[in-house]
Formats: sequence, structure tokens, C-alpha cells
Amino acid sequence: MKTLKHFFDRNSRWASSILAKDPEFFATLSKQQRPEYLWIGCSDSRVPANQIIDLPPGEVFVHRNIANNVVHTDLNCLSVIQYAVEVLMVKHIIVCGHYGCGGIRAAMENTEHGLIDNWLRNIRDVGRLNSDLLQGLQEDEKLDLLCELNVKEQVRNVCDTTVVQNARNNGAELYVHGWIYNIKNGLLKDLGGSTGTDS
Ligand code: CO
Repeated sequence: MKTLKHFFDRNSRWASSILAKDPEFFATLSKQQRPEYLWIGCSDSRVPANQIIDLPPGEVFVHRNIANNVVHTDLNCLSVIQYAVEVLMVKHIIVCGHYGCGGIRAAMENTEHGLIDNWLRNIRDVGRLNSDLLQGLQEDEKLDLLCELNVKEQVRNVCDTTVVQNARNNGAELYVHGWIYNIKNGLLKDLGGSTGTDS
């Protein structure tokens, strides 16, 4: 069996480099996590949450799935949102999509991809709901716009969860942000979001 030893070497060097700067870093962090941010992003290997926003361990609670979807029957994502909001009491939920998303591209195609087509169904619905905006566009423009529209739809889905609704009704300060990441230049763009009074 291959043990991927080089990863353990890299890990050891990484941990040492952190300790060189702050000898108490892991000891302090091991006692509790107090992240202010929940990140809901795509599983794409080019879109790693902590690195994009340049935050160290302990600063952001992360959920990732294909095409950063928030589906109301997905107990995994809903449990993450509930824990983040009710236990960790995060102040910001960030839904971050990215241009060139393979999940969004697959949803636009008419070919079969197997099990994942059931997941991509949600994105197809976003496309159908926004067909007037998407029609007539070139394929690449259509893909980019659908990536943005999907983020906005998932922001709405986050706001519509009972967890977020209850938290806001109980006076929690909770902001939901829609962002998109450009894999061609490493930059984020803010697509707007919801403060709780505008949804
Ligand atoms: Co993606």
C-alpha cells in the first residue's frame, strides 16, 4: 500500500513553520474554535477556502460540494449551517462559486454523467428559472453567467433555511454573502448578498 509519505513530510514542515512563528498556535486552537465565517464553496481543487481568503486554521468553517449548492433536502449541508449558526454563532455565511465550474458546465450539457445528474438537477432548475437571461449567449458567457446566477440562488436558499430564518427572528446578526472566484486570476468578486432586512 502506498502511504503518501511525502505528505507527512510536508505536514511536519508546515506544522514546524507555524510553531516557529507562534509556539502556542496549536495549543491555543486545540481548546476551541471560534470562526466568524461559514464558507460554502465548490469542491473544485482550484478553489480552496482558507487559501483564497488567506486565513489560517481556526478562522473559517467550511462546507464544500460540487457547484456550491444549498439544497433543502441535503442533511449534510443543512447540518453544517445549523452547527455554524447555532453553536459556533458565525456572523457571516459566504456562498462562493467560481467561473469555469465543471459542475455548472455538466448541468448545461445534454449528455449523461451518472449519479451526479441528480445533484446537477438543482443547477438545471436555476438555468430554467433564468432562461430569459441566458438565451442567446455564447457558451462561455452562458457558463459564466450561470455560475453567477447559481451563487445568487444558493444565497437565497441559505436565507430560506429554517436555521437562518430562526436565527434572524431571534435577533442574530447574520449576513449572507454571494461571491464568485475567478480561477484565471485568483480574484474574488462580490455579487451582493443579504443582510436579513433585504431578503
Ligand atoms: Co466548481
